[in-house]
This record gives sequence, C-alpha cells and structure tokens, in this order.
Amino acid sequence: MTRRLALRADLLDITDDPGLGAVDSPVVRFDPDCWLLVEGGRIAGRTRETPGEDWDKRDYSGRLLMPGFIDTHVHCPQLDVIASHGEALLPWLERYVFPAERRFEEAVAAREGADRFLDLLLAHGTTAAVVFPTVHKVSVQALFEAAEGHQMRLITGKVLMDRHVPDYLRDDVEGAERDCTELIERWHGRGRAAYALTPRFAPTSTPAQLEMAGRLLARYPGTYMHTHVAENRDEVQWVAELFPQARSYLDVYAAHGLLGPRSVLAHGIWLDDADRRLLAETGAHVAHCPTSNLFLGSGLLDWAKLQEAGVGVSLATDVGAGTTLSMPRTLAEAYKVQALQGVKLSAWKAIYAATRGAARALRLEHEIGSLDVGASADLAVWDWAHGALALHRDRLARELHERVFAWMTLGDERNLVSAWVAGTQRWHRP
Ligand code: GUN
Ligand code: ZN
Repeated sequence: MTRRLALRADLLDITDDPGLGAVDSPVVRFDPDCWLLVEGGRIAGRTRETPGEDWDKRDYSGRLLMPGFIDTHVHCPQLDVIASHGEALLPWLERYVFPAERRFEEAVAAREGADRFLDLLLAHGTTAAVVFPTVHKVSVQALFEAAEGHQMRLITGKVLMDRHVPDYLRDDVEGAERDCTELIERWHGRGRAAYALTPRFAPTSTPAQLEMAGRLLARYPGTYMHTHVAENRDEVQWVAELFPQARSYLDVYAAHGLLGPRSVLAHGIWLDDADRRLLAETGAHVAHCPTSNLFLGSGLLDWAKLQEAGVGVSLATDVGAGTTLSMPRTLAEAYKVQALQGVKLSAWKAIYAATRGAARALRLEHEIGSLDVGASADLAVWDWAHGALALHRDRLARELHERVFAWMTLGDERNLVSAWVAGTQRWHRP
C-alpha cells in the first residue's frame, strides 16, 4: 500500500507571480491549521478534518509549512571558503576559490563535500538546487550520487573551464566533451537528476569550448545551461576585451547557442535593455544572489526592469560568495537590495521567486515549488518566530503579510523544524 502521510500546520504557498510589490495579493494561498495530505511521496490534497487511522499523522500546529526552497545557484565546493575577507570577484576567485576547488579532484573529498553540502541544504529548508561542482568529473558524480540517496531534485554538471585558470583546474574541449557526454548519458533524467552544461563564465572558456557546450545542449533534450553573467564591472570589461565581436557579455552566450528556456544565469546586474529582451525572447532566466552581490560589492540587481521585460528571476545563495545557505536570509537581503533602489519587494514576491517562480523558470512547476496536488512533497516546516525579539514581533503582527515579512526578515535556519523530500523526512531539528 502507498504510504499515507498527513501534516498539520499553517499551509502557505504562492499560486502565481504576484508582481514585485503588491502586498494584497490574490495569489497567496494560506490555510491556517490545515492538514496537508501526502500519498506515495506526492501531495494528495488538504483538509480541515482530522484524517483517519490509516494516515500517519504529524502535528505541527502553530507552525508554518511551505514548499521546500529552491536554491537556483550555489557552489558545493565553496562551503570551504564562505566568509573570506577582502576581495572583489576576480581576485577573490584567484585567492580563495580556485585553491578550494582543487580539493574536489579527489573522489573521497568530493563525496564528503557533496554529502556535507546536501545535508546542509536540507538543514536550511532547501530541498532542490542548481549547483556548481568543480571541473572534476568525480565532483559531479559525487553530487548526483548523494542527491539520489536523498531523492532530491538536483541540477548540476561538470564545470567547463579551459583557459584563464590555474593549470590544476584547466580542462580541454575534447576531454570535457567526453566527460559531459558520459555524465549526461549516465545521469540526465535518472530519478530526479538533470544535467546542466556549466561553463564557469565566458572568460574561462575558449569560443571552441562554448560552442561544444551549445552543441551538447541542443543534442540532449531537457538539459540545462548554468553559468554566470554580468556580475562585476571588471569582469564585464574583461569579457568585452576577450570577445570584441560580441554586442554584450550576454551576447557571447547567445552566439554560442547557450540561451534557451532551461538556461540559468547567475547575477545579471550589468545588463542593458537589449540583453533583457534577449533573455525574455529565449526564455532564459536570472538567478538573483543578493548576499553574494553585497558581500563582493558587485552591484544591485535591477529587478524592476527584468520584471517589466518579462524575464524570470529566481533567488539563490551563491555560497561561497553568498554568506548564507538560508533562503529566508536571502529573501531578506533581496528586500534590502531593492529598497536601495526605491522598490519595496513584497514577501509574496520574494517567496514566489524562491519556490514556484524558480520552479517555473526551471520548467519544473509540475514537480516542485508549490503545495499543488500532484507536486512532489518537498516541504519545510518552520517556527513562525525563533528567539525573544522575533516572538515579540510575531505576536504584534495584525495581518498576514506583516507576519510573513517579519518571518523572512528575522528568520533563518534556526526556525526550521523539519524538511521533507518526496514525502520522506530528511532533516529534523535535533
Ligand atoms: N564567476 C565565475 N566564477 C564564479 C564563482 O565561483 N562565484 C561567483 N560569485 N562568480 C563567479
Ligand atoms: Zn556563483
């Protein structure tokens, strides 16, 4: 018999794009003190009546239950260098990141790193992710194996970089193509795994390597493309020097067949109107990484212009340039990045961008990011407040947006009670 599970809590999810700032929104689905029903790992419905004897019941009354968060851009090997002082993007990569990524050439280290990373994602209420491993095939293998062990929806792929990196991290077009092909054929579409062609960023791939990535993306249906774009002004300048024929940084990816409905581009701070139109036309989307952008001093994302152009924006931690794996903290920083530009991001939009909006941008709305019937039961249960100050603030909240906004602004992983993947509890507070 399929396993039947019922979770009682305050159920919250966002059913459609609420726009950037609307606080009164019809797309907010909130059912306080309700049972969420799960059968065979999928959401089966909801009810106010207590389910019968044949349901395995978990009572989280007075707590918040939401879809698990989706982190659309995060670097597994960079847990080792989170919170490293004193550099902007390019020198930060040289000084901290490249030496750390070298450790993942070794299979045992790669496996330990992957296990630690996925355990930590779950301990932060994140149940699906789009992940940068390293250039090493074993680092990809390790992540896919670890994710399969947790039944987690994971999108990753070998990092491509055949120039402007230390010798110990450099690949070449032929070897990279062989590794990618083997990994795609082994993992893409197996269980909940999907493969992403992953050029690190335009400066570290030759045109021939970008062209190879574009070819594989076209050859294997459903594969993703994951990279960085227009994060930092020195980086943008460097790309202009390396690709003098390109109209813009984004255009380098377009010219190599890398923009499409499954393309995830981290940052996108220094884009222009033509770039935004190109993103909208191709269906590619931007993963916004506010804690990273503030930490490295990269700049402020113009979310309003992306929204106006019809470009999808998801939220991401970008650890280790990002300073937390917590999506609530990331939502709170996203609010501040918009506030600096006079835009008042609603809690609804922030949550949407980290759940259903991310799923939609990844073409996975049927599976993750919501409490819809039929979706995978990838869930997180949270305390509404943790600590005396947050409890005080929570008691004073008079309406739902006020309460949820205080939750995301004051909350973090200490609020997390349990995390569920496909209807199985994969983390709970000790
Ligand atoms: N651009 C190229 N590589 C990286 C990286 O590892 N982190 C960030 N934030 N930007 C990058
Ligand atoms: Zn990144």
